[in-house]
Amino acid sequence: MTTPQLYDNHGRPINYLRLAVTDRCNLRCFYCMPEEGIQYLPKKELLTFEEIERLIQLVASLGITKIRLTGGEPFVRTDLMQLIRKIVSVEGIEKVHLTTNGILTSPHIKELKELRIASVNLSLDTLNRERFKKITRRDEFENTWNTLQQLIASGIPVKINAVVMEGKNIEDIIPMIELTRAHNVSVRFIEEMPFNGAGNHYQQLTWTYKKILDWIKVQYPNLVKIADEPNTTSYNYQVPGFIGNIGVIAAFSRTFCGTCNRIRVTAQGTLKTCLYDDGVLNIKELMRSGASDEEIKGSLIRAFSSRPHDGFEAESHRKNKVVSESMSTIGG
Ligand code: 5AD
Ligand code: SF4
Repeated sequence: MTTPQLYDNHGRPINYLRLAVTDRCNLRCFYCMPEEGIQYLPKKELLTFEEIERLIQLVASLGITKIRLTGGEPFVRTDLMQLIRKIVSVEGIEKVHLTTNGILTSPHIKELKELRIASVNLSLDTLNRERFKKITRRDEFENTWNTLQQLIASGIPVKINAVVMEGKNIEDIIPMIELTRAHNVSVRFIEEMPFNGAGNHYQQLTWTYKKILDWIKVQYPNLVKIADEPNTTSYNYQVPGFIGNIGVIAAFSRTFCGTCNRIRVTAQGTLKTCLYDDGVLNIKELMRSGASDEEIKGSLIRAFSSRPHDGFEAESHRKNKVVSESMSTIGG
């Protein structure tokens, strides 16, 4: 069966869903969450596994082929593997990806490989245990590091997500690129975004993707541009002779909106058609009020047909002008 491809009101195909399975996390990365006083969602506010499975069947019938499970930390959700087993067999879903901090991940790598998970993105901002502790407010570096080694050994494609932060991990940029010398990993340096759960953010970002690239080119003047995946947010490069590659993600500068093929569903079941909007459809409410599959699909199609042009327009339409959300509820 071939599924019709949906396009948004700007002619962009919608084929990628990022779904947060929980807002909870076992780390407290300062760019994502405050150290204390986090109000987690009551469990009943999360989509159940049955609701998630239904949602995925519905979006697959609308042309979504790629799913990324995120959080919070996905493995903090009980029986996550049970959900993954179901999702990989939904008709029309070709690729299932996972973003994790790696702390609880290693016991599941063998099965993830068997389930043909398309790739794992590991959140890791530093290779230094003390700096890891400062950034994440937890002493868990060894666990994430071991998971990285095991993922590489498993042959599952691995990407490292590193948020670049003045005064926190600039000295890690070069050592992280050195990881790609002998390992087939992709290290992606991400601009810090204002989604830190605290509602405060800088007027101007110091470490823009341009500054990150310039910094890298001082050390590796012969850095080469390599092909980017279609609809990517990551501009990719390689140091000649290195096995892996690197990328920079302009998450704050928002240079990639023109080819955006993605939608998000937050931990509480709200649809976002742009990372920077504040939610455009309450899918959980719809499901719990007894809406039929056709009704839900109709609402999704309507939402896709009034997408903002880019992240700046989405931000200007927000009801809550101050961004106080955390990436842990939005889904990283
Ligand atoms: N800015 C940029 N990236 C962020 N992430 C979380 N919070 C932020 C932020 N404020 C990214 C992390 C992690 C993923 C889940 O989201 O890199 O890999
Ligand atoms: Fe947890 Fe990821 Fe947020 Fe860090 S960035 S606190 S690992 S959800």
